[in-house]
Amino acid sequence: MRKTFNITTFGCQMNEHDSEIMAGMLIEEGYEQVDNRKDADIAIINTCSIRDNADKRFFGTLGQLKRRKKENPEFTVCVCGCMMQQQHVIDTIKAKYPWVDVIFGTHNIHKLPELLADVIARKGKQIDVWPEGGEIVEGLPCERLYKSKALVNIMFGCNNFCTYCIVPYTRGRERSRRPEEIVAEVKNLVADGVREIMLLGQNVNSYKGEKKDSDEICDFAELIYMLNEIEGLERIRFMTSHPKDLSDRLIQAFVDCDKLCKNIHLPVQAGSSRILKAMNRHYDREKYLKLVERLKAAVPGITMSTDIIVGFPGETEEDFEETLDLIRQVEYDSAFTFLYSIRKGTPAEKMENQIPEEVKHQRFDRLVELVNSISAKKNAAYVGRIEKVLVEGASKTNSRTYTGRTDGFKLVNFKGTPDMVGKIVDVKITEGKTFSLEGEVL
Ligand code: 5AD
Ligand code: SF4
Repeated sequence: MRKTFNITTFGCQMNEHDSEIMAGMLIEEGYEQVDNRKDADIAIINTCSIRDNADKRFFGTLGQLKRRKKENPEFTVCVCGCMMQQQHVIDTIKAKYPWVDVIFGTHNIHKLPELLADVIARKGKQIDVWPEGGEIVEGLPCERLYKSKALVNIMFGCNNFCTYCIVPYTRGRERSRRPEEIVAEVKNLVADGVREIMLLGQNVNSYKGEKKDSDEICDFAELIYMLNEIEGLERIRFMTSHPKDLSDRLIQAFVDCDKLCKNIHLPVQAGSSRILKAMNRHYDREKYLKLVERLKAAVPGITMSTDIIVGFPGETEEDFEETLDLIRQVEYDSAFTFLYSIRKGTPAEKMENQIPEEVKHQRFDRLVELVNSISAKKNAAYVGRIEKVLVEGASKTNSRTYTGRTDGFKLVNFKGTPDMVGKIVDVKITEGKTFSLEGEVL
C-alpha cells in the first residue's frame, strides 16, 4: 500500500512554495498526499520563525503528534523550514520532542525523499541541516495549490539584515536564479494551465540573474519585460519589494508591461525616520512617501499594501503617531500589522527600551482600527465598477459562492459555477467590505 503524507505549512509564500515542491517530490516517489494530518502515515511540518507566535504554534503542533507516535511507531514525523536553521530549536527538539524522525532545513528541501527513505528503511533518525545554501537546484517537481496560478521563486535569501528580522539567518545570503530558467519554468506552467504567476523573493528588487552564455546581469525590471512576452500568461505579480531598491525601471515596467498587475506590496514597517534608521531599513519617511507618490503618478489606480511593525524597541508615542500619519497619507488598500517580536540572535534583541506588552497592544489596536477604516473606505469606492476577476474556486462554506482576485489583488466573492474556475470573468462590484468585495458576474 502507498504511504500517505500531509504537510502543515506555517509562514509566508516562500514556505508555501517549498511545501508545494516537497509534495511534488513525494508524489513523484509514489507517496500519496492527504488533506488531513490525522489520516497520514507521514506528517511534515514546515516551520516559520518570523515571530514568536509561529514558534509557539509549531511546538504546540509537535506536542499533538506524540500520542500518534505512541499508538503507531511507524508514523513518521518530519520537521523543516526556517526554525530548523537555528541550533537552539534543534536542541529543543532533540531534548523534548524525541518522536521527531527527520529534521532538515531551508537549504536542502530536495533531500526530503532520501531522508524519508532512510527513516522508513529503519536507518534511524535523520538530521541534515545545511548552514548555507548550495547551488540552486533547478527542475524540482511541484504540486501546485491552485491550477490557474503559481508561485515562482526568482531568488533565495536576504542580505538586508533589518535589525528585527530573523530571515537573513534562516534563509542565508541572496542567490538569484538564471533568467532563462525562470522563463522556461513559467512557459511550462502556462502550458499546464497557469494564467497568473507570483514571483517570489525576500527582496525581488535586488534580483540579479546571471544570463547564460554571457557576462550580463538581468535585473528585476528586465526579468518582468521578458516574462511579459510569454504568450498565454495573463498576470504577473511579485513579492516582496524593498522600498530602498525599487528602481525607476520597475516603475516604467508597470507602465509598459500589460501583464504586470497594478498592485504593489511595499513594506514600510514604520513611519518614523528615527525608527526606520534603528531598523536598518535604508530609507526615511520622506523617501518612502516620495516613492509612493512616484508610483501613484506613473501608475494611476495602483493598489498598495504594506507591512507595519508596532512596538519596535524605543518607539515613542510620537514615533507611533508618525506611523499613523503615514498610513493616512498613503491610504493603503490593506496592511499586515505585527506586534514587534524579539528574535534570538538579531541586533534588536539586544536593544534597550523594549516596549511593554500593554503599550504594544494598545498601539496595535489603534493601528488596526485605522488600517481597517481605510480599507473599508477604499473598497466601498469599488461599488458599481466592473473588475476582471481570476476565479480561484468555490468558497469553503458555500459551494455556490466563488472567490477570485482582481488585477489590484482585491478578493471578490460572487455567485458562480464550476466552469468559471481558472478563467478571468467580468464582475460588477455590488458591495465593498473591509477585507473583500461582493459582486455579480456579468
Ligand atoms: N517582529 C514583528 N514583525 C516582524 N516582521 C519581521 N520580523 C518581525 C519581528 N521580529 C514582519 C515584517 C516583515 C513581515 C514579513 O514580518 O513586517 O515585512
Ligand atoms: Fe527580513 Fe528585512 Fe530581509 Fe525582509 S528585507 S526578509 S524584513 S531582513
